[in-house]
Amino acid sequence: MKRMLSGIKPTGRLHLGNYIGAISQFAKYQDEYELFIFIANEHAITIPIEAKDLRKNTRDLIALYLACGLDPEKVTLFLQSDVEAHAKLGWIMTCMAYMGEMQRMTQYKDKTAKGEKGVTAGLFTYPALMAADILLYDPDFVPVGQDQKQHVELTRNLAERFNHRYSDTFKIPEPLSQTVGQKVYSLTDPTKKMSKSESNPRGTIDLLDDPAQARNKIRSAVTDSLGVVRYDPQNQPGVSNLLTIQSVLSGEPVEDIVARYEGKGYGELKKEVGETVFTFLTDLQARYRKILDEKIVDKVLEEGAARARKIADKKISKVYRKVGFTI
Ligand code: TYM
Repeated sequence: MKRMLSGIKPTGRLHLGNYIGAISQFAKYQDEYELFIFIANEHAITIPIEAKDLRKNTRDLIALYLACGLDPEKVTLFLQSDVEAHAKLGWIMTCMAYMGEMQRMTQYKDKTAKGEKGVTAGLFTYPALMAADILLYDPDFVPVGQDQKQHVELTRNLAERFNHRYSDTFKIPEPLSQTVGQKVYSLTDPTKKMSKSESNPRGTIDLLDDPAQARNKIRSAVTDSLGVVRYDPQNQPGVSNLLTIQSVLSGEPVEDIVARYEGKGYGELKKEVGETVFTFLTDLQARYRKILDEKIVDKVLEEGAARARKIADKKISKVYRKVGFTI
């Protein structure tokens, strides 16, 4: 069975972009692959976050993962900080990476270009830790949204560099993205991705948003003045974004939805997408609350960490021998 691994940062609440770009894929893959999914809490502190918020986000995230259909019997679900090998290999990868290649990472560049104050060294070296997260488990594939592909490319380069310098140690992973929903855009500015840091709450649909409010956000989504329902991300980003959301949540191919809307306007499309999102969130949140009530999160994490450690500890021992730490 091929192996797959991915992670998500517990910063802020999860939104529809995270679901469509990442979590919905994980649930699909759990039957076909040996799947490792972790909460990237060490990455979360690269920007300031209160301990109580980090704790709450982490718990919510696990419960949401489970509510989205991840089955802990099939998937190894764990916290990054529960497996010490991540931080250990993270340091070694930091020492494998060049300043120049880290400076080229667009996520870091975007943050610094905005002139944000207090950008930490951790935010800069973040991709090296991400490389460690991946390489510890020798996955064949890393399913991520478009914004993370560059980090997976860097991971490949660091793995090749290490293998070349110290002999074959890491498998070279492939990034994997679905064709629809690689990127979900803001509802208020469909040229920007839907993101946790978006300042206008009407642009983002959180998975824990009140479903009726979420429906309203879809109904007031920014579109264009062309008035024809077409999938054309270049010229009609707002409408295309709605089509993506509808397609992923309903399972109906985009072309079929477009065909159904021949001669119809945006109002009807927004109504349908609004209803789809409403039902999706209502069902998801009911499952989420049930999982929190059942208090199963701790057990899932404990078992997940034990399984992950078995693999990661073996790999880090091998790496320590190769770099000369074990004498
Ligand atoms: P994070 O937490 O920002 O996002 C988690 C996943 O959601 C995807 N995503 C989106 N997909 C579509 N449309 C959007 N608007 C959107 N916003 C986010 C992201 O591409 C990602 O797949 N560095 C990672 C976490 C990480 C990781 C890893 C991932 C740490 N180590 C190892 C994979 C493997 C991050 O910040 O993702």
